Amino acid sequence: MLPDDMSDILISSDEIQARIAELGAQISADYSGQDLLLIAVLKGAVLFLTDLMRSITIPHSIDFMAISSYGDSTKTTGVVRILKDLDDPIDGRGVLVVEDIVDSGRTMDYLLRLLRVRNPTNLQVCTLLNKPSRREVQVPLDYVGFDIPNKFVYGYGLDLFEIHRNLPFIAAVKPEYIGLPPDEEQGSE
Ligand code: IMP
Ligand code: MG
Repeated sequence: MLPDDMSDILISSDEIQARIAELGAQISADYSGQDLLLIAVLKGAVLFLTDLMRSITIPHSIDFMAISSYGDSTKTTGVVRILKDLDDPIDGRGVLVVEDIVDSGRTMDYLLRLLRVRNPTNLQVCTLLNKPSRREVQVPLDYVGFDIPNKFVYGYGLDLFEIHRNLPFIAAVKPEYIGLPPDEEQGSE
């Protein structure tokens, strides 16, 4: 039974899993013989992290960070508050940040600044989804699962008002459910 607020499925479960297998193989090759610490941003990136790490064939460790954006619910300011910091220092580590989606780029930009001053040897980004048309701040994305159009999406870890994270696919919401007139596409935090 599909949610009432769903417009259509943008990326199927099979497509997600196939792309993650490719990303895992690529990361395993690129980081072969090197240190690899995956840092996932809670909560949205959790499903992606757990599938991605199972497709990575080289030894690696994981850590988590939870952040909360300031600003209203439809616009990210990029100024984030750390709700949960990493368990361990990252100086001298090979860090790969694992995110669910990069929209304006403000959150990732802030996060990268915050991590860079902790002196990792290497700092890269792997995002499942990318909305290039919404970019306000340029951020380097080293691994991207899918470029998506300017639509608010949920499922596979991403939420709509904290629900639907469990869905195995990525779906677009009906615009009227996030307070937009039909046909006007919009992304938001
Ligand atoms: P940014 O700072 O504008 O790049 O926003 C990034 C954050 O906004 C993501 O980590 C998500 O939490 C949230 N976000 C942006 N677009 C969507 C979406 O389409 N669905 C669900 N969350 C989104
Ligand atoms: Mg997020």
